Amino acid sequence: METAATQISDEVKDLNLESYVLELEADGLTVVPPEVTGVSAEFFDRCTDVLLTQFTAMTGGCPISLEAGPEGELSWPERPAGPRAPKDAPPPTQMLIQQLLQLDRCFRDLFVNPVVDALIDHLVGRAPIMGGKMRRLSSTNSFVKWQGEYGYGPNLGLHCDQGANPLPWGSRALTANATWCLTEYTLEDGALAYVPGSHRSNAHPGPGAAKAAKPVACPRGSVIVWPGSTWHGAYPKQTPGLRLNAVAYYRHQAVLPQENMKVTMRDEPWDDCDNPAMMRELIGFDDIFPYEAQNQPVPTLASAAA
Ligand SMILES: [Fe+2]
Repeated sequence: METAATQISDEVKDLNLESYVLELEADGLTVVPPEVTGVSAEFFDRCTDVLLTQFTAMTGGCPISLEAGPEGELSWPERPAGPRAPKDAPPPTQMLIQQLLQLDRCFRDLFVNPVVDALIDHLVGRAPIMGGKMRRLSSTNSFVKWQGEYGYGPNLGLHCDQGANPLPWGSRALTANATWCLTEYTLEDGALAYVPGSHRSNAHPGPGAAKAAKPVACPRGSVIVWPGSTWHGAYPKQTPGLRLNAVAYYRHQAVLPQENMKVTMRDEPWDDCDNPAMMRELIGFDDIFPYEAQNQPVPTLASAAA
């Protein structure tokens, strides 16, 4: 039977990524350092500047820095109470900046990185007949996280990203995550939490799963890659300053995207990046689904056409 483990792509071999693939297979997560992705510290500085500027713009002028976090008092809109946000919950200490592809070219370049693409392709796999790569972008976000208890509680918010898809899952990832760390990740700084080997259960985390969770500690510039079946969450940020990232979230072509990029990116810059052909494929411009008009041939009455 075909399994992800038995198929190593030419890209993985050419880029010498076998050890990262092995970690993905064994642990359900791998961390790739900037020396391997080839992304420079100056490039991450640029991404950071863009995000901090955007935070200030979106919040109506709240200054923010890596060292101090938001430097103004923030007021949040009223949110409906739910299991993740009880009525008496403290205000969030994390904000999502969405639609990074539209924000700046630096993210368009970052998200066509060939090393990450080879690992995501390994997880999501190829089409059974024509062999086309099935990975597509689902959404692109930055989690801007600062000091506070927010927000996943004692179970660390452990979940599988592909949890909306019905069980049973197979050996191919239905979604996958590449989290580019723009600050160092440590336990105290609110690192990602994950359960090594949990992807092999191909099931949702049960009670007590947090006991087996570990922080993903890594230097700035690292990229953390994992499939949608790996149990993960996050630790609270106990220290001043920011934990900042840029997340490319991927889907199998058959899985619904979070952002409808085929539509939202149509009139935005997208082909200015390092690899326009890859970006075109990642957005899914040429995918036949979902279509927006009749896309199958229609015969016409021969006598009318004459
Ligand atoms: Fe998640």
